[in-house]
Amino acid sequence: MVKIGQIELGEFPLLLAPMEDVSDPPFRAVCKEGGADLMYTEFISSEGLIRDAAKSRQKLDIFEYERPIGIQLFGGDIGNMVGSAEIATAANPDLIDINYGCPVKAVACRGAGAALLQDIPKMVQMTAEIVKCTHLPVTVKTRLGWDDKTKNIVEVAERLQDIGIKALTIHGRTRVQMYKGEADWTLIAEIKNNPRMHIPIFGNGDVDTPQKALEYRNRFGVDGIMIGRAAIGYPWIFNEIKHFFKTGETLSAPGMAERVRATKKHLEFSVRWKGDRLGIFEMRRHYSNYFKGVPDFKPFRTRLVEVETEAEVMAILDEVIEAYSTSLVTA
Ligand SMILES: Cc1cc2nc3c(=O)[nH]c(=O)nc-3n(C[C@H](O)[C@H](O)[C@H](O)COP(=O)(O)O)c2cc1C
Repeated sequence: MVKIGQIELGEFPLLLAPMEDVSDPPFRAVCKEGGADLMYTEFISSEGLIRDAAKSRQKLDIFEYERPIGIQLFGGDIGNMVGSAEIATAANPDLIDINYGCPVKAVACRGAGAALLQDIPKMVQMTAEIVKCTHLPVTVKTRLGWDDKTKNIVEVAERLQDIGIKALTIHGRTRVQMYKGEADWTLIAEIKNNPRMHIPIFGNGDVDTPQKALEYRNRFGVDGIMIGRAAIGYPWIFNEIKHFFKTGETLSAPGMAERVRATKKHLEFSVRWKGDRLGIFEMRRHYSNYFKGVPDFKPFRTRLVEVETEAEVMAILDEVIEAYSTSLVTA
């Protein structure tokens, strides 16, 4: 049984990755249904929380059925990170996760996210103070290192474990790689096999099929796998992987009725949580993902991103079911 502190996660948990502008409550609702064992909020700016910025505050919204869930924080100032961890703790998640992996300039060039990989003493101090300020388990998500020449994840893992983090997720790329190339899981396996390490080690990067999940689980020996991009528009990935692990068989891909049902659920929640205008607007980026690979879908997509009311979107989605009801869509 994999455990983060007292949180029991089953034999081989599948985690939904924190993703900015994606991992909001509506998206998490469909992923929870799709079988995610542990989910995270998108990263939340510690400065934003301290300033009481409404946008950052809203990201703290979590719901009972989402448990276990972690709130992820980022920032470059230790005082603000501690202050924001206290605010996040009051929102009552199951754990607090610290982002030491974000590569984007606006974050990493302001001393936050992956930038801390270049200043391990500060990373260690920041983490230690956050661990001290909350009763919740603290976990970390990071990368292999800053660049090819400074892959310092072995030292990072040992030192963060020593000061009390309860799990570590490693994305198998460096900061400089951003999202390019293939994620390298060999160093992740090295951390897992380090006899000094006893906290759960979760691997992350490029897992997008049940076959790959099984291969990586067997080859790299991690305690669980975190999945990001493959879940966008395809929340079924978690249950598909679990089914494959259990039976060796591949579940057939969701048919059109199921795709539409999940899209509607996502949309309804989006509108409820963000309001009509923003809910409908932000949902637009998801349609092509939910219907990826569906032949001749483009005219429907064009209409879906043009209409302005929930009722109109729902009506088009009903038409989609109708239009494809006679064909076997497996996309
Ligand atoms: C759109 C997008 C937003 C992301 N936002 C975050 C974030 O807020 N926090 C974080 O730790 N990682 C973030 N990431 C990185 C993912 O959590 C994950 O590490 C990365 O996508 C690799 O996993 P994958 O290959 O399964 O997608 C983001 C990735 C994407 C594609």
